[in-house]
Amino acid sequence: MNNALITGASEGIGKAFAQELASRKTNLVLVARSADKLQALAKQLQEQEQITVEVIPLDLTAPGACQQLYQRVSELGIEIDLLINNAGFGDYGAFATRKLAKQLEMIQLNITAVVELTYLFLREMQQRQQGAILNISSIAGFQPLPYLSTYAATKAFVLSFSESLWAENRSTGVKIMAVCPGPTESNFSQVAEFPQSNNSPSKATPAIQVVKEALQALENNQSTVVTGGFANQVIVNLPRFFPRETLVNLLEKQFRSN
Ligand SMILES: NC(=O)c1ccc[n+]([C@@H]2O[C@H](COP(=O)([O-])OP(=O)(O)OC[C@H]3O[C@@H](n4cnc5c(N)ncnc54)[C@H](OP(=O)(O)O)[C@@H]3O)[C@@H](O)[C@H]2O)c1
Repeated sequence: MNNALITGASEGIGKAFAQELASRKTNLVLVARSADKLQALAKQLQEQEQITVEVIPLDLTAPGACQQLYQRVSELGIEIDLLINNAGFGDYGAFATRKLAKQLEMIQLNITAVVELTYLFLREMQQRQQGAILNISSIAGFQPLPYLSTYAATKAFVLSFSESLWAENRSTGVKIMAVCPGPTESNFSQVAEFPQSNNSPSKATPAIQVVKEALQALENNQSTVVTGGFANQVIVNLPRFFPRETLVNLLEKQFRSN
């Protein structure tokens, strides 16, 4: 891959993608809201790896932001051959007690921006008959999750959407893959406002491991990859063995904070 665009590149999994791809000499376009963090990362990676890194600070939930991003990349004359739709967040708590605005912003970032950026960049990849799109879903996309209800539903969307596009694009030369991490070291838990008891860092996989597993799965042309080891494989297979109501009740007990 020559040029990768990563959304949510200022922290966590997106930052680890930037570091790993830079070490493989891929030029980068980095997107997130925190311009200062992106600039610092870009400077470091350019100096270390002698690659080109463009920084485009944007709030992807703002009206017209995805179109603006696409236009800016076109003006820079960069052909994106790897798009990583990674920016996303969750929100922990009983649905009706949480802020509606945060749920709607989550849908905008986790779903709408993913659909819009995929649409904009996929068509030119198809014309060139090469390229890849990684959409970051989650193991939460495989079953409903009480107290993360909107989040799990957004990730189910991303998983379903990506798998359909993988199949549609098998003859176009473009690879589409859903990456489904389990708990991963990042700012996710703080942003989601998890209670401390549900936020044990010992269970989390390093972000760089998620990235390496994802890039290997992309090479294997997989439609989906569940990263982070055997426990996560078990979790995503639970819906095969339990009736839906039984499983969602078990998960309600597991995820309840008291
Ligand atoms: N960590 C986990 O346990 C886990 C598990 C499964 C899936 N995931 C998924 O992995 C992806 C990355 O999350 P993470 O764990 O790395 O979390 P993170 O450390 O909180 O990183 C989220 C990134 O998204 C950016 N972002 C947030 N809102 C944005 C907006 N409105 N516009 C543009 N960028 C925005 C953030 O940067 P700014 O704040 O600078 O904008 C940051 O770079 C998400 O899609 C998440 O759902 C995470």
